[in-house]
Amino acid sequence: MQDVLAYIDENRARFVEDLAGWVKIPAISSDPAHKADMQKNAEHLEKAISSLGPDRVEIWPTPGHPAVFAEWRCKANPKAKTLLVYGHHDVQPVDPLELWVTPPFEPAVREGRMWGRGVVDDKGQVYIHVKAIESFLKTKKALPIHLKLIVEGEEEIGSMNLDELLRTKAKDLEADFVCVSDTAMFGRGIPSLCVGLRGLMYLEVRVDGPKQDLHSGSFGGGVANPVHALAKMIAKLHDEDGRVAVPGFYANVVELTAEERTEIQGLPFDEKEWLVAAGSTMALGEKGHSTLERIWARPTVDCCGIQGGFTGEGAKTIIPAFATAKISSRLVPDQEPEEIQMKVADYLKKVAPPGVRVTVEYLHGGRPYVAPTSHPVFDVAKRAFTKAFGRPTVFIREGGSIPFVRTIADATGKPCLLMGFGQPDENAHAPNEWIDLENYHLGIKSAAHLYDELSRLG
Ligand code: BES
Ligand code: MN
Ligand code: MN
Repeated sequence: MQDVLAYIDENRARFVEDLAGWVKIPAISSDPAHKADMQKNAEHLEKAISSLGPDRVEIWPTPGHPAVFAEWRCKANPKAKTLLVYGHHDVQPVDPLELWVTPPFEPAVREGRMWGRGVVDDKGQVYIHVKAIESFLKTKKALPIHLKLIVEGEEEIGSMNLDELLRTKAKDLEADFVCVSDTAMFGRGIPSLCVGLRGLMYLEVRVDGPKQDLHSGSFGGGVANPVHALAKMIAKLHDEDGRVAVPGFYANVVELTAEERTEIQGLPFDEKEWLVAAGSTMALGEKGHSTLERIWARPTVDCCGIQGGFTGEGAKTIIPAFATAKISSRLVPDQEPEEIQMKVADYLKKVAPPGVRVTVEYLHGGRPYVAPTSHPVFDVAKRAFTKAFGRPTVFIREGGSIPFVRTIADATGKPCLLMGFGQPDENAHAPNEWIDLENYHLGIKSAAHLYDELSRLG
């Protein structure tokens, strides 16, 4: 491994430049105006991989944005294990643009970080693997294991074409283990294997009242106001204890065991620091649970946005015709997105005040994941991570969602290693996203150690 690690050290600066070259492409999957950029983004990755001489590299089209697939066979050892690495090449929108210190698609290096949209979520973490692969190929002419790479282009918009892709390409994606690098570390310098992700259910609710906006002098006080109705409905989603009030919402929730709670309590969590990152004045949530339990292992309902009536400058006296809200749920085992969407939709309709019509549209969902940590490969991954960072690896969970993880775990029955290299305050999905360049460098070493360690598994 010394030669591989030395190569990673020697090429440290170029690896950063190469990442910057990819971050420049504005691969915003949610915006139809960037459709061509999504293709360009996939082609950029395909070219970078081609230059490393893979056994296969292909762009897989979907009805939405393309995915990139690549494969390297370990010729020296046909019996070697196969690792499937997953990442995503699409990024989040950049608004509000004026809050960025440097433009989102002009990656800049300062304070030991690279700043730009997608640097950590997830282009930098995809490149961590690409560069680890390069480092093996340039020093040893081959990888020590069979490795497959799938990088999708629709993760940030719900991976709606992924299930179909996984079905049609099931044979190509067969593997012994899966590794996903798309999460954060628990804190600075603390290698962290993520062993749980929440799922997601996302819906839009629309409340219709009068057939058009009305003069609030002539009609106000005489008919139902859809904005009021929607506000009441949203207010009824939680009870006084911060619990979700939707009947049956917790029916299939697997409670944390006493051991899991103790393990979470044992982590060096600094709630004050976490609040600073949030820019909030106090921690708030479901009664009877700590903050880490709330964000990692308890389900939620949140209103992500609400719209209705007059929102322009100045005053306009109307009764709005309709109001809409985007509502999401973070899910934990064994909640199912479709079932939760039905329960939430039914409840919203039930608590709607009279005089309005309620319609609900299901946008997308993804299922939660908890890793089978007793599987020996988790010790292998811990060892690899610890070797690179020189610190003991901790098990954490994350409150975010990556629909692929549960889908591939169920489809293959194989364990998924969530080896992430972000930081909790990395500004993912927000202005001024950054990746710690030390994490990027040590991430490449971690991935290299992982491949090496896996090659010694019987
Ligand atoms: N990388 C994140 C997932 C994530 C978020 C992991 C927070 C750890 C902590 C991923 O790109 C993401 O943003 N996922 C979406 C999923 C959705 C659009 C289906 C999410 O969690 O909102
Ligand atoms: Mn991501
Ligand atoms: Mn994301």
